[in-house]
Amino acid sequence: MGELARLQQDGKVEHVGLSNVNVAQIRIAQGILPVVSVQNKCHVFMQRSLRDDVVGYCARSQIAFLAHSPVGGHGRQKRLGESKLLLELARRTDATPWQVALAWLLHQGNHIIPIPGASRPESITSSLQACGVHLSREDLAALDGLQDW
Ligand SMILES: NC(=O)c1ccc[n+]([C@@H]2O[C@H](COP(=O)([O-])OP(=O)(O)OC[C@H]3O[C@@H](n4cnc5c(N)ncnc54)[C@H](OP(=O)(O)O)[C@@H]3O)[C@@H](O)[C@H]2O)c1
Repeated sequence: MGELARLQQDGKVEHVGLSNVNVAQIRIAQGILPVVSVQNKCHVFMQRSLRDDVVGYCARSQIAFLAHSPVGGHGRQKRLGESKLLLELARRTDATPWQVALAWLLHQGNHIIPIPGASRPESITSSLQACGVHLSREDLAALDGLQDW
């Protein structure tokens, strides 16, 4: 962080973000330089960043939260299509299980930016359409209750 602060002072770095951190680590970094973003793994089956208050802390501190591996992570994304709850919500909202998973993330706060990876254009188009998937309070509560992998 000290080196990054020096690079920032030299004008070589504009903004600094952190990845895979907890609240204590964000606080330490903030003691050295301004933190603009945090990028942690976060999806319906990996909700640690919500439960340990990283997402909440970022909201209160005006830090963007970039949810990495938002549809399960490369190579594990197929597992979302096997979830009974996601399949049921997808059927009800006329969406796919992956879109429901992204919509759940987007419902967690305006500072959440899911960053799905894709090798196919169809995946990108589909992910963009997740912005239009509405989930009810009950749907969100059911998804909140999923156990982490
Ligand atoms: N900071 C870190 O430590 C860290 C760690 C891991 C990942 N990341 C970052 O997180 C981002 C995403 O990670 P990731 O690619 O591993 O995980 P991911 O986004 O959860 O999964 C990507 C896979 O899901 C599929 N997919 C994406 N959108 C979909 C959709 N709407 N419907 C159906 N399938 C969909 C893609 O399929 P196709 O390939 O068939 O299109 C791709 O193979 C990347 O930018 C990566 O660099 C950061």
